[in-house]
Amino acid sequence: MSAVIDKVETGTSGTPRHQMAEECFTLDAGLPTGPVSVEPYRSPEFFERERERVFKRAWLFAGRIEQLPEHDSYFVKEILICKASVLITRSKEGKVQAFHNVCSHRGNLVVNKPCGRAERHVCRYHNWAYGGKDGALLGIPDQKHFFDVDKKSLGLTPIACDVWEGFIFVNFQKQPEVTLAEFLGPFGTTYAGIPYFNLDETIVIQADFKANWKLIADAFAEPYHVPSLHPATLAPGFAHPEDNRYARPLSARAHGIHRHFSAYGNPHYVPAPTSKVESLVYIQDTGGVLGGDASENAQGVMNHPAINPTKNPNWSADVTWIFPNFNIDYSTGGFWIHEFWPVAYNRTQWTLRIFIPKTASIRHRLQLEHYASRWAEVVLEDVTNCERIQLGLESGAKDHMVLQDAEMLIRHNLWVLDKWMKADKVADALK
Ligand code: FES
Ligand SMILES: [Fe+2]
Repeated sequence: MSAVIDKVETGTSGTPRHQMAEECFTLDAGLPTGPVSVEPYRSPEFFERERERVFKRAWLFAGRIEQLPEHDSYFVKEILICKASVLITRSKEGKVQAFHNVCSHRGNLVVNKPCGRAERHVCRYHNWAYGGKDGALLGIPDQKHFFDVDKKSLGLTPIACDVWEGFIFVNFQKQPEVTLAEFLGPFGTTYAGIPYFNLDETIVIQADFKANWKLIADAFAEPYHVPSLHPATLAPGFAHPEDNRYARPLSARAHGIHRHFSAYGNPHYVPAPTSKVESLVYIQDTGGVLGGDASENAQGVMNHPAINPTKNPNWSADVTWIFPNFNIDYSTGGFWIHEFWPVAYNRTQWTLRIFIPKTASIRHRLQLEHYASRWAEVVLEDVTNCERIQLGLESGAKDHMVLQDAEMLIRHNLWVLDKWMKADKVADALK
């Protein structure tokens, strides 16, 4: 298999650093600048290796703590790439635990509801019962006709689970080689303490695509495409014909194996006179359309040193990409998360969850409706394009792609991915 990233090239493929007006995100992240192999996007063999080397060894986002509001609350997360149904529970002491949702009798999936609250979970095949807080096997109907069953060893099989800033992660290694804190590394410390708000309600947009999971992740990893792919929806607010024609990020950095970019916001933006609904709901002082109580909370986000780290006044949002398949994005109006779940080398399930305030007025409701429909418009432009790229890459016409500096996050992901594919030890993949 060829290397994901070739050596640094000189001459025609890269602009020497002294010719770049601003900082160079790519070189500052320690990355090479040459063309990049497209095999990771189109190879079924690469995909099978990714399953084993990346998804079965990395810490994976599974849910938010608010999904477990009280003790004995649970939810089930299907993680297809690891061929797993995961039951996540909360004990009386507030401990979050994860288990394979698989019966010790003959392997049936135990819990069928996606979420709820239960002191015991009963497998419907033969009614074996498990404790809601610790997965212990509580009861076996007609136990006397089994042969030497040891109930203590027949509880639900645990999965490593830990929580960072309210985000629940799981790891499918029996004994994870690294802790969640080690996995998150500098990202975990830099982004600690950000105030999360509007956690109770969400707009959820979900879709299945005929494209590799990385193509969908890449669609949200660079703003270079904003003026061309989103000329009517995003470009007026996130680019400027003279000041920032190509929506160049304000910053873009690697944080260990994870990464972020800060997006430019056009300070002159006001809704077009023809945009009657947007004009009605637009709130200038929060810089966003969510409104509500966002103004006060927004200060806490904006003042955090990790957010918009150069503190550029023309800031609109930060996109963070936690390796391998999870984004947390921050703006003054609130935050949202993306999950990019691989199904096959050319199939992806994508979920966008936008955390929104409870509506306080009719105007506010209208604002949220507008916000949701604008989001849907934008992401439709992004993700339908991914299927076209998949076709293009699978045609075999091109073996490499060329990335510019604003596409650093894509290059960094492929570089990190390459390390995970090659490293026999996770600790080496984190270096
Ligand atoms: S398979 Fe679960 S009780 Fe039989
Ligand atoms: Fe986009």
